[in-house]
Amino acid sequence: MSLGARPSSSPRPRLLDRFRQFLPLSEATPSLSLGEGATPLIRAERLGLTVGAPNLYLKIEGQNPTGSFKDRGMVVAVAKALESGAKAVVCASTGNTSASAAAYGAAAGLEVIVVLPRGQIALGKLLQALAAGARVVAVDGNFDDALRIVRALAEQGEHPVTLVNSVNPFRLEGQKTAAFEVCEDLGRAPDILAIPVGNAGNISAYWQGFREYADAGLADSTPAMWGFQAAGAAPLVHGRPVERPETVATAIRIGAPASWEKAMAARDESGGRIEAVSDDEILAAYRDLARLAGVFCEPASAASVAGVRKMAAAGALDPDATVVAVITGHGLKDPQTAERQVPGVIEAAPTLGAVAVALGWT
Ligand SMILES: Cc1ncc(COP(=O)(O)O)c(C=O)c1O
Repeated sequence: MSLGARPSSSPRPRLLDRFRQFLPLSEATPSLSLGEGATPLIRAERLGLTVGAPNLYLKIEGQNPTGSFKDRGMVVAVAKALESGAKAVVCASTGNTSASAAAYGAAAGLEVIVVLPRGQIALGKLLQALAAGARVVAVDGNFDDALRIVRALAEQGEHPVTLVNSVNPFRLEGQKTAAFEVCEDLGRAPDILAIPVGNAGNISAYWQGFREYADAGLADSTPAMWGFQAAGAAPLVHGRPVERPETVATAIRIGAPASWEKAMAARDESGGRIEAVSDDEILAAYRDLARLAGVFCEPASAASVAGVRKMAAAGALDPDATVVAVITGHGLKDPQTAERQVPGVIEAAPTLGAVAVALGWT
């Protein structure tokens, strides 16, 4: 069975085909794709010099089909759900998982149910899920409450439904492919991989990917994993759950990460670190990413660059190190935060003279 658009010769090969040898696929796994993966790794020289990391690269995961890295894992989770005969999938979400589940569910003809914290989802993500036909239930609680509820929904037997949060192991299997691409594009593993951390699935997936790539003899080394949480939602930094997580970076507003132990293992096995960055530091990096690198991302994504800058300022970063910062989601996801961070439009009458005056040229 083949689902999703299939161009005859695609410059963006299907993720399930390209990395088949590393994925838990069988002959019976449907071939699903919306064009996920194969995202750019760009050298960000101006930004790198500003933040104190001259060899800075950005892995632009906002260029996935629904605008975030979640699509890598969702294509595997949904294909495996189809393979097992599922008719419906369910997830809790800070937004991006719901957008991705809704899109892949739509392409695959599955019912999609989303449970999310009321009033805490960036507008673009919510609209993506609704547009794709997901049934979205908002609860008065946080992400951790929503995750508890969907775990229970997936366990009851009356309405069979497959859980596609990152506690579903197929999600991390798909997400690890980004680490393969980073090594392919660099020609080696980076020295440091900087990444925002919320539920801690992605840092765990990248670490798994780097290890598998090295174990397969395709890279000589693995990077130090540097994870960054928002200061108001930093349970892994404090070593205990945060009851009321708070941050402008809504995608990582999580107080009890599901992949806690895996993230700690990634940090410790790689000789890495998990640190907190403030909302002000996140927003400064968010603005600089757009203005110095041309990369418009959502606030959570900027935590990686904010963290690199913080470590460089603390003298903890070797300036010769090759650093890859993962930019997890697209800026258009969260237009409300963007609006608060950009200068206003300059207004002028529709004449050359008035526009010149408005520009300060006369
Ligand atoms: C844009 C963005 N960045 C980072 C994260 C954090 O990823 P994880 O929850 O796997 O730690 C998320 C999770 O929703 C996200 O949507």
